Amino acid sequence: MENKIVVSGIRSTGNLHLGNYFGAMLNYIKMQDQFPCYFFVADYHSLTTHPDPAQLKPNVFKVLAENIACGLDPNKVTLYVQSDIPEIPELYLMLNMMAYKGELEKTASFKDKARTQPDNVNAGLLTYPTLMSADILIHKAHYVPVGKDQEQHLEMARTFAQRFNHRYGDMFPEPHPFNFGNELIKIPSLDGNGKMSKSENENATLYLCDSDDAIRKKVMKAKTDQGPTEMNSEMPIDIQHVFALLKLVSAEDTYQKFVANYAACTIRYGDLKKQLGEDMVQFIAPIREKTKEIQQDTNYLHRIMKEGKEKARASASRTLDEARKKMGINFYA
Ligand code: ADP
Ligand code: TRP
Repeated sequence: MENKIVVSGIRSTGNLHLGNYFGAMLNYIKMQDQFPCYFFVADYHSLTTHPDPAQLKPNVFKVLAENIACGLDPNKVTLYVQSDIPEIPELYLMLNMMAYKGELEKTASFKDKARTQPDNVNAGLLTYPTLMSADILIHKAHYVPVGKDQEQHLEMARTFAQRFNHRYGDMFPEPHPFNFGNELIKIPSLDGNGKMSKSENENATLYLCDSDDAIRKKVMKAKTDQGPTEMNSEMPIDIQHVFALLKLVSAEDTYQKFVANYAACTIRYGDLKKQLGEDMVQFIAPIREKTKEIQQDTNYLHRIMKEGKEKARASASRTLDEARKKMGINFYA
């Protein structure tokens, strides 16, 4: 086991989808055998949009169950809920003193949200990157498995770590994004428009809880074009997304067959989508069924949460004590 620490979280804002699986979870599962890992449900992060309080608990339980159903082993990793760790908001407060309004306002995700929800541009939204940095730095993480959309947030976490170290003395390692491939990935949505995401374009996102029927239907509706007119022509961006998905869930020879058909101008998108739909069902159905089973076992989930909380707080309080001392907040010593 390497002594590099891994931290990552997923917001409890809705059903997990293929993007979460390939962008984040697949890496979690591989990393759990190689590094000490802290994975958590980012429920505080979901509060920026004022979710219905009654939905919070089922949402948190669902994400936990989905994490485990995907192969995360609570015996190998520390799996916990963010709001169970009071040290995180305390570190968040400290880091906020080192985060400047100008740089927070320039964050792409903030600008995006400020544009799409102009009536709710709250301070939590503005300081989302400092909360995320606190999540990461509280365990002195080195690696953070995330999708490409989180790259800028990670850069900010490094900046805040450096600022703290510079001002108060070295204590935080620099956290870096991590993916087992060479690049961070982005799973495209089925309509070829942007990425799959929990809350946007639901018909173009494949969720890990989708029924077989829903999966087939969504895949059949995936956007394609008229087909290539010249042999060996380059694949337009609009078509690349179905091939990208095929590569993820289908057998390599199936994928190669359709690539060859495309190059030879004999591709039939109907056949491709049918195959993709079936392979997607094979991939998603076992995860969906396992999630249902785990979700019903509240006692088990409570036990996992409590164990995770204890382990995560032990690490978090060590870091926080050190940070308090470095900042001079040790009045009883
Ligand atoms: P969402 O964006 O769907 O709300 P989260 O923000 O909770 O999901 O993201 C959880 C993790 O999943 C993050 O590491 C994020 O980078 C990754 N992720 C989300 N969508 C995608 C996608 N379409 N492709 C790759 N990774 C993704
Ligand atoms: N901001 C991440 C997202 O939207 C979720 C997240 C919160 C996270 N805290 C984190 C990811 C810490 C990695 C590490 O996807």
